[in-house]
Amino acid sequence: MLELRNLSKSFGDFQAVKSVSLSVPDGAFLTLLGPSGCGKTTLLRMLAGLELASQGQIVFDGQLVSDGDKSWSVDPAKRNSGLVFQSYALWPHMSVRGNVEWPLKVARVDKSVRDQRVAEVLALLNIAELADRYPNEISGGQQQRVAIARTIAPKPKVLLFDEPLSNLDAKLRVEMRTELMRLHRATGATTVYVTHDQIEAMTMASHVAVMKDGRVEQFGQPDDLIRVPETAFVATFVGTPPNNLVPVSPGPDGPVVRGRPIGLRPPVEGPCFAMYRPEALRLDDQNADRTLTMELVEASRIAGRTMVTMVDGDMRLTAIVDQPPTAEIGDSVRVVLPERPTCWFDDMGRRVGTDRTGAG
Ligand SMILES: Nc1ncnc2c1ncn2[C@@H]1O[C@H](COP(=O)(O)OP(=O)(O)OP(=O)(O)O)[C@@H](O)[C@H]1O
Ligand SMILES: [Mg+2]
Repeated sequence: MLELRNLSKSFGDFQAVKSVSLSVPDGAFLTLLGPSGCGKTTLLRMLAGLELASQGQIVFDGQLVSDGDKSWSVDPAKRNSGLVFQSYALWPHMSVRGNVEWPLKVARVDKSVRDQRVAEVLALLNIAELADRYPNEISGGQQQRVAIARTIAPKPKVLLFDEPLSNLDAKLRVEMRTELMRLHRATGATTVYVTHDQIEAMTMASHVAVMKDGRVEQFGQPDDLIRVPETAFVATFVGTPPNNLVPVSPGPDGPVVRGRPIGLRPPVEGPCFAMYRPEALRLDDQNADRTLTMELVEASRIAGRTMVTMVDGDMRLTAIVDQPPTAEIGDSVRVVLPERPTCWFDDMGRRVGTDRTGAG
C-alpha cells in the first residue's frame, strides 16, 4: 500500500503541494493528472525522496519513509523505488546492456544473477536485439524503453514516472502506453505516473488524482471521475471530449442561459452551472423546450459518430451525435438540453446536491 498523509511542500512562502492525502492498494496504477504548475513533479519528487516534505507523511508498504513534520526522510536509494524522468539520460559511453546492468552492479548483485535479470528485462521491453548498441545508435522511443528497463531492473516495489512519454510522437506514445500497462501487469509494482494528458491518465490508471494549484481536486477511479465529478474543474478536465458546463443565472422570470429564459430548474438560487455529457445533447429539434441557438464551429467524424462543437459568446458546447448536422460551419444550429443535467455546480465550481428531478 502507498499512503500519503497531509503531504505539503513549500518553497519559501510559496506552497506547491497543499495537504495531499490519499492511499492506493499494492499494485495500483495511480496517475497524478493536472495542468502545468499544479505540483505533480513536486509530489513525485517527494515520493522518490528527492524533495523533503514540509509537512505530512509518506508510507510505502506499511513503512514510514518520510515525515515532513519531523524533517525526516529515508534515503532515495533505500526506498525500493525507481524513478523515470521526462528526460531519461542514458550513459552515452555504455551499451544498452551496460546501462541496464548498471543499477544491479551498484547494488552488488552477483554477475550470474545480473546477467539473467538483464536478459529478462531486455526481453520484457522488446529490446534484446539492441543490447550491444550505444544510446546514440537507437531511436528516441528505444532509448525510452532502455531507461525504463534500467529502472525496473532492480525490481523496485514502487515505480515513479514523470511524463515519461512526452518526448515521443503521437503514434509511439500510444504504443508505449500499451507497453507500460503490460509492464505494470508483469511486474506488479505499485506505479505512480505523472501526466497532464487526460487520455493517458484515464486509460492507464486504476486510480487518478486530479490536481489543481497544489491540491487534489478529486481522487478516485477513472470511471468515478467521469460519472460523478466533484468539481467543475474535474468535469471539464477529464473525458473525451470533456463534459459541457452551461452557465445558468437568475432572471426576472426564472433561470436564464445567456440572457434567455430556459426551462431549467437549478437547485440553488444564485448563478450556477448545469453539466451535460456530450452524448446527452441533441441537435435540430425545432419543437423542443430548452433549446439554445448557437454557431456551429466544428463537426468531425469519430468512430462512426459526429463530434459537433458549437459556440455562443464564451459558451462552448460539444455534442456527440449519430447524424452529422445538416448546417454548414458558421451557420446556426439548435441544441437541445435534456431537462435533467447530470449534475450541478455552484459558481465556485463545487457540486451542489443533485437536481430536483434526480440525476439524468
Ligand atoms: N525548487 C523550487 N523552488 C521554487 N518553486 C518551485 C520549485 N520547484 C517547483 N516550484 C514551483 O512549484 C509549482 C509546482 O511545480 P511542479 O514542477 O511540481 O509542477 P508540475 O505540475 O510538475 O508542472 P508541469 O506539468 O509543467 O511539469 C510551480 O509553480 C513551480 O514553479
Ligand atoms: Mg512536472
